[in-house]
Formats: sequence, structure tokens, C-alpha cells
Amino acid sequence: MCGIVGAVSERDVQGILLEGLHRLEYRGYDSAGMAVMGSDGQVNRVREVGKVAALADAVATTPSRGIVGIAHTRWATHGEPSQANAHPHMSGQRLAVVHNGIIENYIELRDSLRADGFEFTSQTDTEVVAHLIEQQFRLTADLYKAVQAATSKLRGAYALAVLHADEPDHVVVCREGSPLVIGVGIGENFIASDQLALLPVTDRFMFLEEGDMADVRRDSVKIRDRDNAPVERPISRFEHSMDSADKGEYRHFMLKEIYEQARVIKATTEGRITKTRVLEQALGTDAGKLLENVRHVQIIACGTSYHAGMVARYWIEELAGVPCSVEVASEFRYRKHVIQADTLFLCISQSGETADTLAALRQAKKAGFRAAMAICNVPSSSLVRESDLVIMTQAGPEIGVASTKAFTTQLTALLLFTIALAKHNGLSDAKEAELVEALHALPSQVAAALDLDDAIEELSAAFVDKHHSLFLGRGSLFPVALEGALKLKEISYIHAEAYPAGELKHGPLALVDSDMPVVTVAPNNDMLEKLKSNLQEVRARGGELFIFADGESRMTSEEGIHVMQIPAVHPITAPIVYTVPLQLLAYHVAVLKGTDVDQPRNLAKSVTVE
Ligand code: F6R
Repeated sequence: MCGIVGAVSERDVQGILLEGLHRLEYRGYDSAGMAVMGSDGQVNRVREVGKVAALADAVATTPSRGIVGIAHTRWATHGEPSQANAHPHMSGQRLAVVHNGIIENYIELRDSLRADGFEFTSQTDTEVVAHLIEQQFRLTADLYKAVQAATSKLRGAYALAVLHADEPDHVVVCREGSPLVIGVGIGENFIASDQLALLPVTDRFMFLEEGDMADVRRDSVKIRDRDNAPVERPISRFEHSMDSADKGEYRHFMLKEIYEQARVIKATTEGRITKTRVLEQALGTDAGKLLENVRHVQIIACGTSYHAGMVARYWIEELAGVPCSVEVASEFRYRKHVIQADTLFLCISQSGETADTLAALRQAKKAGFRAAMAICNVPSSSLVRESDLVIMTQAGPEIGVASTKAFTTQLTALLLFTIALAKHNGLSDAKEAELVEALHALPSQVAAALDLDDAIEELSAAFVDKHHSLFLGRGSLFPVALEGALKLKEISYIHAEAYPAGELKHGPLALVDSDMPVVTVAPNNDMLEKLKSNLQEVRARGGELFIFADGESRMTSEEGIHVMQIPAVHPITAPIVYTVPLQLLAYHVAVLKGTDVDQPRNLAKSVTVE
């Protein structure tokens, strides 16, 4: 959730740290801070509540030059957002720590440290880590050994970076449950919780494995694994283009990412389909073997990725005839399950670092599933490294906290997977060709949906003064309604609920009046007539309807009914195309309301805590 960046260099590192924090702000943004080793031998710390810009202002007013430094942007877990709770945390004036994750046993550790005379100035679990390392440093007079001894007492998930004024030329880092990457420079080295933070200074990265600890110096990086054995981690080059972290001509990252969808959906199918077929081999060399006898698919994910899984269930059962269950990871991991024979365990995660999803995967690997598969957007993520079969989405870095292109590329990858699975279960060549044709048509259909942008912007005015809204869909469009409602609530803060339209009369219809806009996605499919009856029920109660439909749906605007038309699409790919107008609607409502579109309150991009 939080972001860490650090540097050991020959030049002043403040600018590098600030730029890194700006790039990590999507992970957490309620306070930020940095600590640098000054040439006077002192650790100089600056912390500010609010966004990185506030820290940048503070640093500009009182610059604290230094060639070794660590920095942090916070998403509060323990203790409110305040200067005292912001990182880095220090023990005395000489040791500073930044931390991403959660220390579960911090209360007992704090009590014992207090008994030893350490004083606490924050409500955070991180300050415990700082004092614990200092306590060990007093015994060992060696920062690396002190971090090693201190972390052996920690329970929970963490990535840590530590510096000490007595050893001014290095930073000690470790990883257990939270991501950490080392950026390899020339005569300088860096650390960060996401390689994006370091792109202005390097494109070469080493990914720490769980349990790794590293001594990062200007001219060397020495890594040891959890058994304290020296290890080499391979250096890989960053794959995405550098400008992916820039907004370009767009006002917000979210809008840029919505507009990128036609291109990235195409990129996700590229090399994986011919004119008429899905190339199973392109999904992974072992794909054929792993998919061959799958009798059940268990999908696990959170949030938007969970909605992608819900759409996939319709596809998998309809096209492959294989039973499919979908569950949110935070529930799945804490209950007993009956595992059917030959069940494929499928995790969907944009970041590949979501704590609940990873925990579920780790349980599943011990529990006797046939294989673990992942759909993910970050090649270097833990999820990718720990799965047997991976289909990478090709969305490129997604910076807006509200997921957009990650979702539609997840759906695209899930459809590729479904077709491959269905081929093992009797899907005909003709049906495969029809579906692949629908996949080829997607980029232009998404582009056509984007053409509605101006009209949707106009429509959004009707939502600005509303406090609640309903989203309706049926069949595979129901999860799309869920996703539309999630987008609206997370960036505009308007309460939005989604229902399968057939459920309306079982309760929610009581909410409908002229103050409750009702949004629905209504492509011409075999549920359309039933959906239309549900919409009549809404209109009869004075509810104003906002309908996204195609020409063949034969719906027209009239008093209290606003119909936006998008071109007809294949019923299977409709969930992908119909997501786009709902994203635009949420975006424009949020812009009109003046909320922080890219970094909505209380949220973070990568949820690496439980
Ligand atoms: C909402 C959103 C979140 C994520 C969820 C899972 O717009 O982005 O709901 O989908 O936190 O994240 P990943 O996909 O990284 O596992």
C-alpha cells in the first residue's frame, strides 16, 4: 500500500527520492517523508501530512542534501495520517526506517521495548521496528546483523529500508510479504517498492524474493536469502515504455487509461490468436497439459479483478461447459473448502501483490488443486512468480487508482483462456472462429464506445447532485453493472449499488424515486426482453433511466429515459465493450464534483495489506 524509495549514490539524492515518491503516490498518499544522510554525519528527516507536493515544498524550503537516503509515501494502517505517524520513523537521532506492510505483533514488542526504556512518539507499528533494530544495533554494532536479528522477532508482512548514521554509506533492506525491488545503476544503486519509481534513474532491476535481505551500497548489492545464504537475483530490464507514467495530453491518468483500452486490448490478444484460432501454446508452454483434464475452475480475486472473474464464470460455463466458482480472496482464505478433483485455481490480480489474493494462492498450492494459474499485469509480481501458468495482460502500468484498462484486459485474457479451455471440452472450430473474430473486432468497438465521451460528459450533470444510484444488468452484464457502480462510488463518492435486474422487485425497487438515477447496460441479447420489463418497473416508479444499448435493442430516448447507443457487438464480448461507457460516466461525474480522480480518498492502488 505504502511506497518506499531509496538511493545510495555519489550525487544528492533528494530529487531522486521526490520523483520516486511522486511516481509511487498511487500506492498511498496521506503523508510523505524522507531521511537523508547529511555530509555533517547527521540523519536529516522531513515529513509532511498530505501529498508528495507538500513534502517537496518542505524540502525546497529547508534542503537537506545527502548522498544516501530513504523515503516513503503512506497509506495509513496504524494511526491517523499525521506528521508524527509519517515515515521515516527514527530511533534516537541516528537510525531511520521506512516500512511497507503490517507488523502483527507490534503491541507486545512495543510493551517490551518500553520496558527497556525506548520512548514512542507515534501510533505506528513501524516505530517498533526502528527501536527494535536500534536495540539490536547496540548489541551488534552492525546494521545488517541488527536488522537480521530484529526481523527474526517480527510477525506480519513487511518491506523495510533502514539507514544508520554510524554506517553512512549503505542502506539495509529486506522483504517478507511486501514487494521490494533493487534498481541497479552505474556507480549508484536504488531501492523501491515498485520499479516505476526508479525509471528516471535506471531500467535494470533485481527483484528480492520472500525472506531476502540486501546490503545496498553505491558499488555493490549483496543479497542473502532467508537461510542467510548469499544469493544472486537476476537483473532484468524494464519492459514498458518510459512515458507510461506520464499523463500526456490527458487531464487525468484515469482518462488516459480509459482511452488506451483499444490499444492494450489488442496488445493482449497479439501473438495469441490467428485469424480464426486461439494459440494455446502462446498462453504458456504447459498450457495444453494443464488445461487438458480441468473439471472445475476456482477463481479468486478482489475488487475490480473479482468482477472480471464473475464475467468469466458466465463464459467458462457457457463455452467450456466446465463448472466455475468465483470468490473474493479475503473470504476464501478464511474458510474451509471442499476441493473438487481436477480443479484449476485461477487468481486474477492487476498488481499481482494483493495480500489476500497471494495468501489464497499460497494456501491453494498446499491444498491439492490441479494447478495454480494467474492473470496479471505485472510480470515481476509475486503472483506471477508463484503460479504454474500465467497469462499476462498487456495493459502497461496503470496509475489511476480506479482500475480501467486493467479490467478490460483481464477480461480479454480471460476470454482467451476460456476459449483454450473450451477447445479441450468440445468447442467446435466454427464457434472458435466466431469468438476469435469477435476478439479481433474488440479494439474498433471499444474505440466506438469511446466516441460517446462528449455525450456521456453531458449526461453526467444529472448525477452531480445525487447521493445514490442504482446499476442494473442481467447475465454476464450484471458484473459489468457491479463494476460501473464500483467506479462511480470510488471516484465520485456517490453511493452506487448494482443488482441483477431481476432482483429489483425483491427489495431494491423500494428505493426508486426521481432522486435515484438508474443506469443499465442493455445490449441486444437473449435477456433483453426480460431486462426491458425490469426497466418498465423502474420507470413506473418515477425512476430516471440511463441506458447503454445497441441499435438492435430498439430502445429510444423519451421523457425520463436517456438511451446512449453503441454499435452492436457479439454477446460474448459485450461485457468488455459496455464497461467503457460506465467508466466514462464515473469519470465525468467525478470531474464535475471536483474530487481527486486519480487518487480518491482512503484508497490505494496496490493493496499489500490484509
Ligand atoms: C478498483 C480497484 C480495486 C482492485 C483490487 C484488487 O478500481 O482497482 O478494487 O481491483 O484492489 O487489486 P489487484 O487487481 O491488484 O489484485
